[in-house]
Amino acid sequence: MAGFYLCEMQILDGKAAAQSIKDALKLDVAQLASNGKEVPHLVAILVGNNGASETYVAAKVKACEEVGFKSTLIRFESTISAFRLLETIRELNTDPDVDGILVQLPLPAHISSEEIINAIDPSKDVDGFHPVTVGRLVLGQPTFIPATPYGIQLMLAHYKIETSGRHAVVIGRSNIVGRPMSILLSAAGPQGNATVTICHSQTKNLKEICLSADIIIAALGRPGFVTADMVKEGAVVIDVGITRVDDPGRKRGYRISGDVNFDDVATKAGFLTPVPGGVGPMTIAALLKNTFHACALKHYD
Ligand code: GUN
Repeated sequence: MAGFYLCEMQILDGKAAAQSIKDALKLDVAQLASNGKEVPHLVAILVGNNGASETYVAAKVKACEEVGFKSTLIRFESTISAFRLLETIRELNTDPDVDGILVQLPLPAHISSEEIINAIDPSKDVDGFHPVTVGRLVLGQPTFIPATPYGIQLMLAHYKIETSGRHAVVIGRSNIVGRPMSILLSAAGPQGNATVTICHSQTKNLKEICLSADIIIAALGRPGFVTADMVKEGAVVIDVGITRVDDPGRKRGYRISGDVNFDDVATKAGFLTPVPGGVGPMTIAALLKNTFHACALKHYD
């Protein structure tokens, strides 16, 4: 992170912000337990041995332990049938001990992730991927917000970054990040009320559009894509990228790269998230919050 920054740039420390959310959750969980209530229980399903998925799921399980949640990791070989996976989800749907169900994506090519997601009970859909959950989000109804956009909202709230009336440019239109993020930023309410442009691979004049942005959310999965010449002086730049890039100089053979060229953009941005240590930890904190809410809803039933 070496470099000479012309303007006063603030790093948005996702690790610290996530820690404060986890600390608060830990107290809430202790309160539940002291009232004799069951603590939240997240079940994560991991199919196959995708290295990145292994890392993410391990981080999610570890975070559950940290805050006092129960967690279960169910692993399947990559050859598992969709039928067997659906059977497991149906069992978890009706298990009163389970609050949240997460199927780590991507799934092997022979399994339709759409079919699997559709099978999850929306009341346990802590990833926020089920069509009912997405529909509620679009309509502005209370729901589980997908963890990455939710984590970014929590980050903006933590650092008191104003979104109302500002121009937010979201690069990437995935169901997991870009699209829900654009909906949340344009919705009425906190961390919303922005004027939103959603950009994608077919967008013309991307640089010009980005240059007019007060807030850029880079979620396209292309390492170092956003450079200083695309960024307005003082803009807020949120980097969602987490691509593994070959790096023979490292012991593990790769490094994690964001979608933003950090050192370059740091010379222009007012606020910038690092990778790692930015959006990643916030995503996990957001997943924990969703799981806590799923459990709390059960207690109020
Ligand atoms: N793969 C990449 N991001 C996610 C996520 O947020 N949830 C799940 N289940 N899989 C993912």
